[in-house]
Amino acid sequence: MNKKIHLSILNRAALERMDKNDLIQLLLDEKTIRRDFECRAPDSAAYLYHKTKYGQMIHGDSLSYLREQTEKSVDLVVTSPPFGLVRKKDYGNVDAHEYCNWFRPFAKEIRRILKDSGSFVVDIGGAWKKGQPTRSLYHFELLIMLCEEYGFHLAQEFYWWNPAKLPSPAEWVTIRRIRVKDAINTVWWLSATPWPKASNKRVLQPYSDSMKGLLKNGYQSKKRPSGHDISNNFSRNNGAAIPPNLIALPNTESNGQYQRYCKEQGLSPHPARFPSVLPEYFIRMLTDSGDHIIDPFGGSCVTGEVCERLARNWSCVELEEEYLKAAMGRFISPSERFSVPCKTSDSGTFYKLSKPDSLWFKAEDETLDCDGGKTRRLLPKVESTILEQ
Ligand SMILES: C[S@@+](CC[C@H](N)C(=O)[O-])C[C@H]1O[C@@H](n2cnc3c(N)ncnc32)[C@H](O)[C@@H]1O
Repeated sequence: MNKKIHLSILNRAALERMDKNDLIQLLLDEKTIRRDFECRAPDSAAYLYHKTKYGQMIHGDSLSYLREQTEKSVDLVVTSPPFGLVRKKDYGNVDAHEYCNWFRPFAKEIRRILKDSGSFVVDIGGAWKKGQPTRSLYHFELLIMLCEEYGFHLAQEFYWWNPAKLPSPAEWVTIRRIRVKDAINTVWWLSATPWPKASNKRVLQPYSDSMKGLLKNGYQSKKRPSGHDISNNFSRNNGAAIPPNLIALPNTESNGQYQRYCKEQGLSPHPARFPSVLPEYFIRMLTDSGDHIIDPFGGSCVTGEVCERLARNWSCVELEEEYLKAAMGRFISPSERFSVPCKTSDSGTFYKLSKPDSLWFKAEDETLDCDGGKTRRLLPKVESTILEQ
C-alpha cells in the first residue's frame, strides 16, 4: 500500500476494503502528519512594530504571536488569510491541495486562545482548478477540518457578494461562456462554543421599498405555500430590517488616507485588501468596546483601523514589513481618520440584483455543446442588450 495516501481522500468503501494493519498504519501516519504540521516552527519571531491608543501592529509570523497568547483570552479573531490559489499573488499564497495542512498550526492556536464566548471569522475566496473549469474544494475542506478536528462550531456561513467583481476567469466566463461570474467569497463565522456572544441588532439595515410599502399599506396575514403562517407581526415597524447572510459590498473603497500615504511614501498598497465594512460588520455584531480582537494575517491593518475607531483592543500581525510600513498611513493623523463616518441619506444603500428569469422570454437560439466547451470555439455575437449586464 502507498503509505502517502491521505486519509481524507479515501471514501468509506475504500476504507472498508483495506487491510486492518494498513489502516492502522494510515491512521498513525495521519496523526504524525497532523502533529508535524501543528508543531511547525514559526518562520520568524514576532515583535512590536507600532502601538496606538487601542492596539498594536506586530511584525513577524503570526504563529509565534498566537503561541504567546494566553488561553481563552481573545474575543474575536477576524481575518482574511492568503487564499489557496492557482495563480499566485505577490505575498505568496498556498496551493489549494496543501491548504488545510498549512492552516493546522494556526487553527490549533486560534482555538486555544478564544474565550468560550468568542468567535473566529474567516473570509476565504474559492479557487478554480488549474486548466479546467471546475472548482477546488479547499475552502470547504478547511471548514470541515476546523469543525471536525479543532472543535469549532459553525455559527453561520456568510456570503460576501462583490457587485463590482469583473467576470473571471475570462477563459471559462467570457470566452467559452460555460461558467458564470465568480463574485462571492465565503465567510465562515465559527465559534468556540455553540453560544458565542452576538447580536443582530448591531447590524440592522434599512427597510427595502417593498417592505416600506407593506408597512404603510398593511399586510394581509395568510399561509405561505411553504406552510409558514405570516402573521401580523411582520407588519410591525421595528425601525430596521434584520439582514440576510449575504453581504453585498463592492471592493472599490478608495481608502483615501491609506492610498495617499502610500503614494507620498512611494510604497505599494497591499494588493488584496478587504473593504473595512467587512471586518466592521463582525466586530460590531460580535464584540463590545474594550474587547480583544486579533487579525493574524493583518495585511494593511484594515481590521486595526476599524478597531481603533470602535475602541476595541486589537493586534494585527503581518509577515511582510513593506505592508506594515504602508499600514502606518492608517494611523498617522487620528483626528482626521477616526471620526465616525456620518451618513446623511439612504442613497447608495441598496444593490439591485435582477431576478434570474428576467430575460427568459426568448427562445433558445443555440443548442449546448455536448463536449461542455472543451473545444474552444468562437461563439456567435450575443445581442448587445443582453450583454449590458
Ligand atoms: C489576504 S492578505 C490580508 C489582507 C488584509 N485583510 C487587508 O485588508 O489588508 C493576507 C496577508 O497575510 C500575510 N501572511 C501570510 N502568512 C503570514 C503569517 N504566517 N504571519 C503573518 N502574516 C502572514 C500575507 O503577507 C498577506 O499580507
